[in-house]
Amino acid sequence: MSVNESLKIIPLQVEGVGLVAQIVFDMKDSSANKLSTPIMLRLRELLQEVDRNTNYKAVIINSKKPKIFIAGADIDEIRSMTSPDQFREAVGQGQSIFNMIEDLKIPVFASIHGACAGGGCELILACDYRIASDDSATRIGLPETQLGILPGFGGCVRLPRLVGLQAALDIILAGKLVNAKKAQKMGLIDRMVHVNLLSDQTIKFVQDVFKEGPHKRRQTFKPKGFVNVLLEGPLKTVVFSQARKQTLKATSGHYPSPLKALQVIQKTFKSSNRERSLEIEKNAFCEVAVTDISKNLIHVYDLTEMVKKQNGVPGVQVTAKEIKALGILGAGTMGGGVAYVAADKGIRVRIKDLNPEALGKAFKHAHDLWFKLMKKRVLDKFQFSQKINLISGGTDYADFKNLDIVIEAIVEDMGIKQKVIAETAAHMRPDAIIATNTSSLSVTEMSKGHPRPEYFAGMHFFNPVHKMPLVEVIRGEKTSDETISTIYELSKKMGKMPVVVKDGPGFLVNRLLLPYMAEAAFLLQEGMSIEVVDQAYVKEFGMPMGPFALMDEVGLDVCIKVLKIFKKAFGDRVELAPCMEALEKSGRLGKKNKKGFYHYDEKDYRGEVDQSIYQALNLTTPTNLISNQECIERGVFAMINECARALKDDQIVATPNEVDLAMIMGTGFPPFRGGLTKYADKVTISYVVQQLEKYSSQKNASKRLAPAPALKNLKAFYI
Ligand SMILES: NC(=O)c1ccc[n+]([C@@H]2O[C@H](COP(=O)([O-])OP(=O)(O)OC[C@H]3O[C@@H](n4cnc5c(N)ncnc54)[C@H](O)[C@@H]3O)[C@@H](O)[C@H]2O)c1
Repeated sequence: MSVNESLKIIPLQVEGVGLVAQIVFDMKDSSANKLSTPIMLRLRELLQEVDRNTNYKAVIINSKKPKIFIAGADIDEIRSMTSPDQFREAVGQGQSIFNMIEDLKIPVFASIHGACAGGGCELILACDYRIASDDSATRIGLPETQLGILPGFGGCVRLPRLVGLQAALDIILAGKLVNAKKAQKMGLIDRMVHVNLLSDQTIKFVQDVFKEGPHKRRQTFKPKGFVNVLLEGPLKTVVFSQARKQTLKATSGHYPSPLKALQVIQKTFKSSNRERSLEIEKNAFCEVAVTDISKNLIHVYDLTEMVKKQNGVPGVQVTAKEIKALGILGAGTMGGGVAYVAADKGIRVRIKDLNPEALGKAFKHAHDLWFKLMKKRVLDKFQFSQKINLISGGTDYADFKNLDIVIEAIVEDMGIKQKVIAETAAHMRPDAIIATNTSSLSVTEMSKGHPRPEYFAGMHFFNPVHKMPLVEVIRGEKTSDETISTIYELSKKMGKMPVVVKDGPGFLVNRLLLPYMAEAAFLLQEGMSIEVVDQAYVKEFGMPMGPFALMDEVGLDVCIKVLKIFKKAFGDRVELAPCMEALEKSGRLGKKNKKGFYHYDEKDYRGEVDQSIYQALNLTTPTNLISNQECIERGVFAMINECARALKDDQIVATPNEVDLAMIMGTGFPPFRGGLTKYADKVTISYVVQQLEKYSSQKNASKRLAPAPALKNLKAFYI
């Protein structure tokens, strides 16, 4: 990479101003501008040049990339650093270079179009003036806490000064990016203009400033309204303690970096000692950057980047088909969800259901979600009606010949699905794709209903579709690469994370989850209470919900049905605790009939555990004699055991990367643990094997908990 070409000064004569130094970021050999060490050193060189050359009257910093201003620090560099000293040096250098921007004698203007994140945002905070395009690509913020670190190039110090304590905490603690409109409202940028006018309007901005004489500025936030004056001043401790409480609640204490950032802001807010404040920020950065949690979160970031670059068929050059119009069979829970997500991304949707009432419900589902966004002013009226107009439906196959793909989401019955698929294919173009959303049936078997099985695959969404990011793209025996790649790209277009999996019972995620849920039922049978087990998983392990709450969500009838399917497929190693048999007969279906392990209110919010369930399942009063450690290990290690089989024996996915991505995106497996296989490697495979051997002999559970040969033969998932 030529650093000099990637970052250079283009001098510009501006009427009424004089010579302006345009510092232009355009990293060669990369689609994004990143603040790597060579780039930072080059920036220092250019700032020194500007400082030396008294002909320059102002500086404009901008980017030549079509959708990126500066994406942030170079993650590859962060990943390669292991010692606090390495971080200390890099952060110290970054801080001193951004101080140079702040200290230049002439005013510095940031002209922003595209992503302006992390170090990019910290750079604009050191500038005197900020103008941005109103384009949807322009997103400004500090996502560092999402990577287990914190803003270290002055972000924790400068952002609260510019936008106030409350807005700054909102961005930094959640690791948020905001659009230009919001950035302007909070004072993060001064002006917002159409992208085509950005260059001209930046020059005009410089001229406007120079009309009052060239001047630097150190803008400080002025709160509006009596309450805000108090909260940003004498009552700021209330804001800090509320923020701490909320952060602890949101993270269950598993993510140290937002709390560290909060401490930094608390210690430095309104301090006039810049050097001391930056030192506090640097020390805090070095503390969190070396933790496993940060490394794990960076691993998760890498996994999501991997998806952006891949096409779903590694090593194969194939062009995915463009999907402009999408059909859905079945307007139920899943069909309605898919319709919303697709139309939300601008894809035309046609839904077919036998039942007009179901169609009405699907329209209402999408309508209500967009209406909420319009009320929150995320969408305007025009965007709202544009989206609504993208969905149409009926009880016949009208329009199906114009569709590029149809997603089947009707009843879970092989015979009916095969018949409907054959019928649907007859109404579509021969090169159109049909994808099934089945969660438990064989895609290869189902493809026999399609006259051209190469155009048939699985596209398994998770419920609720608009919230769950994962899509399992299932390859049947005859599915073509083009079909897989088209579904993979379509998933990305719909804002989802696709993972390609081989056909097999439960595909990947459900196959791994089921032993975990089944083990929870054995814990219940052995005298554990529902709340103790669920809380152990949530509070100690970091799962978004415990296994009983999850079973209620999925539907108790569905869990038992799928467990039975697995028993047929995998034999004796799938066992149902006796209480599950009783559960099947109890009429409890979970959340959907508001009768499960928990109580549910009218709005379907989960309440307390339904204490009558113990008696209903012929269980005695819980004794809770099993340790939290054992509860967690039995469930999680059962998943790891199944994972070894799925990955090594059956090659359901290609690498541990896909397992980790799928488990995080499909089940909410705690990202700070890096994913299931990262976690297994951390505790070591030999420990997992040893504990599984212990539990399987102690609990007389040699069939279901004995370590699989595939696990025993493994040193680590990641070699
Ligand atoms: N609900 C979940 O959590 C979930 C998650 C992932 C996958 N799935 C799978 O998605 C599929 C649909 O599940 P759901 O929960 O949305 O079901 P649902 O019962 O809510 O909806 C099914 C809809 O299909 C319609 N339908 C039935 N036969 C039809 C036909 N021949 N043509 C057109 N419409 C027809 C029904 O009228 C109904 O509206 C199933 O295969 C299921 O296994 C469900």
